[in-house]
Amino acid sequence: MEGFTTQLLCALIGNIHLGIIVLDNNLRIQYWNHFVSERCATSLEQACGRPLIDVFPEANAADFNRSIELARDQGRHVYNHWLQMPLLQLQTAGNESSLLTLQSTLLFPFATQDGIAHFGLMVYDTSAAAQGNEQLRVALKALGNKQTEQDQLLRKLETANSQLLQSEKMAAIGQLAAGVAHEINNPIGYVFSNLKTLDGYVRDLLKIADAVDTAGGLDELRQLKRQLEYDYIRGDVAALISESEDGIDRVTRIISALKDFSHIDEDEFRPADLHRGLDTTLNVVNNELKYKAEVIKEYGELPEVECILSQINQVTMNLLVNAAHAMDEFGRITLRTGCDNDWAWIEVEDNGKGIEPKLLNRIFEPFFTTKPVGKGTGLGLALSYNIVQKHNGRIEVYSQPNIGTRFRINLPIRQANVRPQPDVAQP
Ligand SMILES: Nc1ncnc2c1ncn2[C@@H]1O[C@H](COP(=O)(O)OP(=O)(O)O)[C@@H](O)[C@H]1O
Ligand SMILES: [Mg+2]
Repeated sequence: MEGFTTQLLCALIGNIHLGIIVLDNNLRIQYWNHFVSERCATSLEQACGRPLIDVFPEANAADFNRSIELARDQGRHVYNHWLQMPLLQLQTAGNESSLLTLQSTLLFPFATQDGIAHFGLMVYDTSAAAQGNEQLRVALKALGNKQTEQDQLLRKLETANSQLLQSEKMAAIGQLAAGVAHEINNPIGYVFSNLKTLDGYVRDLLKIADAVDTAGGLDELRQLKRQLEYDYIRGDVAALISESEDGIDRVTRIISALKDFSHIDEDEFRPADLHRGLDTTLNVVNNELKYKAEVIKEYGELPEVECILSQINQVTMNLLVNAAHAMDEFGRITLRTGCDNDWAWIEVEDNGKGIEPKLLNRIFEPFFTTKPVGKGTGLGLALSYNIVQKHNGRIEVYSQPNIGTRFRINLPIRQANVRPQPDVAQP
């Protein structure tokens, strides 16, 4: 029975893929198995009885001694991982690469039946793990490079983006200027012509006043008044003045709306009244809208919303102008607002020609436009998307061809602690 166990153990130790070295109490080699023989230049006969450090001069003597102390004094199993400083390096058969010689070791004390102290040293071949690790390192490095590339790309995108914003701003300003010119032209025109008429009237009235000194009698004066159509002048003067006042009033309103719009480069979030912003915007784009659609306001209750109002104005302006452009015949644009929980929303809905489903995911792309050259820049929605994102909000679109389109902007009421938005009901 004993012979059989010994045979079994010998076969096991001879075949195991693990180096087993037995040292005596003085750290002299007593035995090692086939695994070690295969991986070292010295044979067991030559090594037997010699100190381990002599046979493996490249062994890490300091760590080895520390490990021995731990094992001897505290009876511990001391494990050394190859990634740290390996105790001992064996050459992997047939391979010179130092990487493949990395080994983990386990050193532990034991005593034979007669009470003599020994040390066991197990040597694991970790070259496969090391190889895996090397692949991982290479992969990580490649990933790192990719990350750097992406960072560079992102920076380029940011630059391109801010250039886009700039050019859309210019386009928007151009559009605004044209609209404002048209809008102001009309009142200025009739105020000017009224002034000319009034000039004529004043001359005639002065003639009548002068005649008080020169006329021969009251009849002559009365005749002059009739001749100069005094009664007509009297009626018309009031109308001319009130019409001119209206005109000047309109110009003043447009100018003050423009002032609100001119803080376009402002960059700070401030609590603002979105309804006031919408009204300002409506005033500014009125010229683009009035021949295309009636605008219906369905404002809900809104607290002040922390935003950069001039930028939100720009977004709603883009949406309103797009809605007007979508009209084939005189239509309807509904401007709606409301809020749920921490979110405020603005909707611009039109009953225009709608957007084909296959184009829906392209409309926010910079330069995507279905409009003829000169009419569309394809930047309005890209810019709007950007602005809403900067506000930590969301812009959504629902559209059906030939029925209409609804854009919805969701904005957090406060910028601090923005939480993910609850799902918005589909139309
Ligand atoms: N309300 C709308 N109804 C129909 N189509 C729209 C509407 N809003 C946007 N679009 C489509 O999205 C495209 C991109 O819009 P935008 O970025 O504002 O650029 P632009 O108005 O200069 O074309 C438009 O050309 C149009 O095809
Ligand atoms: Mg547009």
